[in-house]
Amino acid sequence: MITTIEELRRWSQQQHHSQKRVGLVPTMGALHDGHLSLVKTANQYCDTVLVSIFVNPTQFGVNEDFHQYPRLLEDDLRLLQTVGSPEVFVPEITEMYPAGFDVSVHVGGVSQPFEGEIRPTHFDGVATVVLKLFLASGADIAFFGQKDFQQVCVIRKMVTDLNVPVEIVVCPIIREPDGLAMSSRNKYLSKSQRSQAVVLSQSLILAEQMIVGEKIQDAERVRKKIRSKIETAPDMNIDYIAIADPQTLHELTTINCDTVILVAAGIGTSRLIDNILITTTRS
Ligand code: PAJ
Repeated sequence: MITTIEELRRWSQQQHHSQKRVGLVPTMGALHDGHLSLVKTANQYCDTVLVSIFVNPTQFGVNEDFHQYPRLLEDDLRLLQTVGSPEVFVPEITEMYPAGFDVSVHVGGVSQPFEGEIRPTHFDGVATVVLKLFLASGADIAFFGQKDFQQVCVIRKMVTDLNVPVEIVVCPIIREPDGLAMSSRNKYLSKSQRSQAVVLSQSLILAEQMIVGEKIQDAERVRKKIRSKIETAPDMNIDYIAIADPQTLHELTTINCDTVILVAAGIGTSRLIDNILITTTRS
């Protein structure tokens, strides 16, 4: 296990010296099958894989769950042994943000809507820590989940605009058997909340049926259907239902090209997000 940036740089140099392609899987720990699927994909693409586990304080808002966020390092290390025992980077907060740290990476455009409106400082924190991880690890390829669709848009934009020499690979959403997207935060859900949470993925499947099966192009009609499905769960409070262009995240009124549908809702003290990418034939 590597804990310092200096050690990480040395490790990365050794890997590159031995002509190894380095894959990076950034995480905040409390690992589940979603995270492990990223590691498995990284194993296929790369000669050596690094998983970072760091609950990044700068991406949590003041009233968010930074202190409550599950920290389960022992379990995480055990789980990683089941997927080829990648190298692990587990820095302290002061290692990533020493006293006097005073830089923030801000990505415009794609970081503004949806999550950006609800969590205004979130993506600056994500972009800052991910850029630090890219630079310290010297990763050739980094692996992210589609689960956090807008996060991927933000990281891609950062990589493009800052010419960061890393390739981004996006991996599919891993779901529970009933369809709920796996998340470290699902641990917070009570039994009743957990059974209501399934409406999010169900609403996205209904939307997909309307768009792909019934060829409905009216985004407002699709949005209404999603809303009424989510509202069947009495404790679910919708934050947004966005029907957007997957590249720009601009909202669409007519669905006649590739489309992403993003939903977010609060339940109790938890927040859940989910999305679906729908590929349509251009008309
Ligand atoms: P975290 O929430 O721990 O997620 C780490 C990675 O796992 C992200 O790329 C996320 O999209 C992916 N992931 C989470 N749940 C998934 C699922 N059900 N299926 C597939 N992939 C899934 O995202 C973060 O951490 C942080 O913002 C981070 C990028 C590490 C920066 O701090």
